[in-house]
Amino acid sequence: MYKRIILPILFRFDAETIHHTITRLLQLVLAIPGVSAICRNYYVVNDSRLARTVFGLTFPNPIGMAAGFDKNAELISELSDLGFGFVEIGTVTPRPQEGNPRPRLFRLKADGGLLNRMGFNNKGVGPAAGRLRHFAKNRGGRQVIVGGNIGKNKDTPNENALEDYLISFRELFDAVDYFVVNVSSPNTPGLRDLQEREPLTRLLTALQQENHQHPAPKPVLLKIAPDLTNGQLDDIIAIVSETGLSGIIATNTTISRNGLTTDSDIVSQLGAGGVSGLPLRDRATEVIRYLHQQSGGSFPIIGVGGIASADDAQEKLRAGASLIQVYTSFIYEGPGLARRINQALLKGL
Ligand code: FNR
Repeated sequence: MYKRIILPILFRFDAETIHHTITRLLQLVLAIPGVSAICRNYYVVNDSRLARTVFGLTFPNPIGMAAGFDKNAELISELSDLGFGFVEIGTVTPRPQEGNPRPRLFRLKADGGLLNRMGFNNKGVGPAAGRLRHFAKNRGGRQVIVGGNIGKNKDTPNENALEDYLISFRELFDAVDYFVVNVSSPNTPGLRDLQEREPLTRLLTALQQENHQHPAPKPVLLKIAPDLTNGQLDDIIAIVSETGLSGIIATNTTISRNGLTTDSDIVSQLGAGGVSGLPLRDRATEVIRYLHQQSGGSFPIIGVGGIASADDAQEKLRAGASLIQVYTSFIYEGPGLARRINQALLKGL
């Protein structure tokens, strides 16, 4: 019903407008007394065999909502009620920012993908931290794990990036279960230069120093681009052990336009941005497999990129991922996605 009736209607409207309308609707509907419980009954697959303990946290199931969907930490309860085991909020920046001019989110329908150049539009880390504290007090038994994905403001030069990451890290410390350092978005000019060995080591070392001042430090993960070379991936493996990271999230969106079915003129008219969804699937799996094999499985990997079915999920897990995340396929497949994958994982166990 979602794919045959609802999706064609949604796809008549601008992609970003629909995102905001649907998420607002979700909040309103789930706020009606009783609806949230009905949803949970239907969508949440409650089975201890799905639980995973990874970097010291116990996830009720291995399917998470990837960063960018809930940039401002407004949808944790709703996504938990739709069966997600974890939600990664953000990317948040210290100060609120508008992001790039609209339109900045496009569907690649023929490819089952999206192209976005949002540019870290968000309301700032302060309000996000406030909402997360509110959620913590009103979680109503929801077991969902919350990750905080942090980035830098567009007008902060790379030389001062550390200060931005530290501000968000401190602000969110008590409000999230794990952190993700995002240096891999293609939509903040120069950001991905921070993936190079020296600046990345400096950034992560300083964040870990801050982290280890706490009696119970939080797991810190790094989110990487799928466009890195094997040499750069080798550097990442070394940096994980040098800086004591808890794991890697692979991958963010790609700047590659290879292998798309959508007409190349149309794609080039859409302009700059990162591609997600099915066109990213195989490359993301390749990166996961490479990291897992070259590191001898010495750190956990959260696999993300083009997962639209239980088979896709299994493929990422077999390549070496301990947990997986989705974003684009949630748009294409609808609200039952986490439930379907969790049920299929159970059958395959
Ligand atoms: C994203 N993604 C993303 N990632 C991130 O670390 N911070 C962010 O703010 C965003 N924002 C964002 C916006 C939009 C519109 C999309 C489609 C994606 C990347 C996302 O978390 C994920 O890594 C990729 O989309 C690949 O997964 P899927 O979409 O193929 O399942």
